[in-house]
Amino acid sequence: MAKAKRLYVCNSCGSTYNKWMGQCEGCSQWNTLTEEAATGTPTGLGKTSNSKGHIIELSGLMSKDAPLPRMISNMNEFDRVTGGGLVRGSAVLIGGDPGIGKSTILLQVVSNLAKNGLNCVYISGEESEAQVRMRAQRLGLSDSPVSVGAETNLRDILATLSHGKCPDIVVIDSIQTMYADTIESAPGTVSQVRTCAQELIGFAKKKNVCVLLVGHVTKDGQIAGPRVLEHMVDTVLYFEGDRGHQFRILRAVKNRFGGTDEIGVFEMSDLGLQEVSNPSALFLGDSGGDVVGSAVFAGMEGSRPMLVEIQALVAESSLGTPRRAVVGWDSGRLAMIIAVLDARCGLGLGAFDIYLNVAGGLRISEPAADLAVAAALISSLSGDPIEPETIIFGEISLSGEIRPVGQADARMKEGAKLGFKQAFMPAKMKHKNKKLKTIELDQLIKLVDVIAEDLG
Ligand code: TYD
Ligand code: MG
Repeated sequence: MAKAKRLYVCNSCGSTYNKWMGQCEGCSQWNTLTEEAATGTPTGLGKTSNSKGHIIELSGLMSKDAPLPRMISNMNEFDRVTGGGLVRGSAVLIGGDPGIGKSTILLQVVSNLAKNGLNCVYISGEESEAQVRMRAQRLGLSDSPVSVGAETNLRDILATLSHGKCPDIVVIDSIQTMYADTIESAPGTVSQVRTCAQELIGFAKKKNVCVLLVGHVTKDGQIAGPRVLEHMVDTVLYFEGDRGHQFRILRAVKNRFGGTDEIGVFEMSDLGLQEVSNPSALFLGDSGGDVVGSAVFAGMEGSRPMLVEIQALVAESSLGTPRRAVVGWDSGRLAMIIAVLDARCGLGLGAFDIYLNVAGGLRISEPAADLAVAAALISSLSGDPIEPETIIFGEISLSGEIRPVGQADARMKEGAKLGFKQAFMPAKMKHKNKKLKTIELDQLIKLVDVIAEDLG
């Protein structure tokens, strides 16, 4: 008998090799190759099929199915992130650190959907039925009509789901614990994860069921298993948050049925995850103003404005190379702002230790935060607090100019709503605001003048 062929598959990118290597050539990761039995690849496709495919005109599809049938959970934060509710026949992957609350939020979501009359099934590969029941009791959901199963064999799961009334929504918690008995390797390996996901997605499309897959993440925060998993599903959501903080953020990183810059904010409590409909209040420190080194950034998270406090500490350094520590923002971007403040405004920050923190543990990626960061740094260096009740936004260019950013109206409206009185913002921006006093700045040096006259 011919010896079974072995293959080496990269756990990170899914590349395959005939021999073992320390480093994957596909993604340059070390020690990611695992040995698996080779499965035959189909050949000669195209010559042999007797059955015909089915092609119809797009316009025909439109009239038949439009609008996309959405299933709404009535948890506004969740529905917004999914682009207005879960879509039938779609596959959603939810990743996040262990213990962040993936199982909790999914149980809450399916309970809500079940209460709306949808047939929901929750399959747990990690917890027993009794454990899921205990969690449901704790969340006050023990009477919700969700079907629960504790199973890891994919064949059994698909057989159960195909039997009787077809479910509307299926949760698989988690994809790494599932195994297909047609494949020899252990659960959690690339080929198992890929095959199980493929089967489940196929089931979702065929039966018009929405499948929610929980995915574990690796040490560096990526969903474990091959990157192809993210390509296979329709929507990828990440559930993130800081263990030290109560709140959690659900973020869409890929969505075939909605925007990808939306976030949903939740707070972990004794009764599970509560929605936070006014996140600005959460991310603003409750200092009453007049704090040195603190600036309020009027940011946008997707379509939603959000005010966030940015704190900076500029301190005399006792080290040869001053320390720079950043939480919640990009350290490269901070280095750039420091360089521009030094070169264009002559502040001499180079010799100081600098610490920057985004309050509440939020991560900001918008360039519009530049101006607020600069303001916090200037304030901390000079010891002058920024005038209370001021929101700040604007992008800084290397030349020291302050550049316009989008959605000024939404930012200012949120500021006015939360009782702010003025805005430091880029010059020459069109806006309809009448409530806030605007201080329009075209050069960074003008910001220095506004906050700390003696530095400028
Ligand atoms: P879990 O949903 O099990 O996380 P994951 O599935 O992402 O691994 O969440 C577990 C954490 O949530 C655990 O540390 C305790 C906390 N928690 C609460 O604070 N309140 C609650 O009501 C529940 C159910 C969990
Ligand atoms: Mg879990």
